Amino acid sequence: MDMTQRPRRLRNGAALRGMARETRMSPASLIYPVFIREGENTVEEIGAMPGQYRYTVDRLPTIIESLLKSGVDKVMLFGIPDKKDEMGSGAYSDDGIVQKALSKIKKEFPFMYCITDVCLCEYTSHGHCGVLCGHSVDNDRTLPLLARTALSHVQAGADMVAPSDMMDGRVGAIREMLDKNDHIDVPIMSYSVKYSSAFYGPFREAAGSAPAFGDRRGYQMDYHNKREALKEAALDLDEGADILMVKPALSYLDVIQTVKSSVNVPVAAYSVSGEYSMIKAAARMGYIDEASIVCETAASIFRAGTDMLITYYAAEIAGFIKEGRIG
Ligand code: PBG
Repeated sequence: MDMTQRPRRLRNGAALRGMARETRMSPASLIYPVFIREGENTVEEIGAMPGQYRYTVDRLPTIIESLLKSGVDKVMLFGIPDKKDEMGSGAYSDDGIVQKALSKIKKEFPFMYCITDVCLCEYTSHGHCGVLCGHSVDNDRTLPLLARTALSHVQAGADMVAPSDMMDGRVGAIREMLDKNDHIDVPIMSYSVKYSSAFYGPFREAAGSAPAFGDRRGYQMDYHNKREALKEAALDLDEGADILMVKPALSYLDVIQTVKSSVNVPVAAYSVSGEYSMIKAAARMGYIDEASIVCETAASIFRAGTDMLITYYAAEIAGFIKEGRIG
């Protein structure tokens, strides 16, 4: 038998596989999304996302402590206000829910790195990501409100802001507002390549942010498109984005790879609510092994080229990395 190459040679035993592995992961690259609601002493499970909760500000230490214990020291904050209005004013109010959560976390856990989702959809009575003009979202009138929201998050203690609204020009508007107020060192992680996706369904239940009419296809991307991802990425870079995000993750691995190979900034991927809920549901039915699927999907997103991953499974993935099961 004349075989000079035998790929199986490098698969012989865990030590060798561990050494020859092409994709490395670290808990340092994981970000966990946290939902914060008004009220007191409440931790409420999200119906469509079993195992995920909405926390009142006073109960945040429970989740922050357990994240830190598992090795995850970065969170992405989402607010669920009590009152909503046409202009989404809860998003940029000094005593808004995210602002209150930031003061609490930064006071008690100064080393927890806090990224905030900057968008109006959780705060508007109509559930759209900007202010309305008739039945469409008015891009340019929304920009100052997003910039105000970002500034107010930073003033409350945010380490990084992440605009997810998909208005044109919002990264530039936010950068200008932060710079004018001497926050030149606060980075922007742009939800740059964000597709209009049914995978956000469970999140909209969690955050009560489903649009009251229509959908988000007028501002989020069409999932048939990939070259358009490069157009969005280039614009956001030009406007001053520090990190570019692709969202969702699992059905968009090709997009992650394409964006990664065409930019010179770090790339993030968001494994969204629907990805979490599908795994959870199938696991609960006994159809798949949850831990194995979580490991394999996380590795696939990093293999596609992401530098960081926002995921509801952050604590579990950090655990699997530490055990040496992946990474
Ligand atoms: C806010 C926002 C959404 C998500 C993150 N930021 C919802 C949406 O755009 O409808 C989705 C996150 C998830 O599904 O886990 N605009």
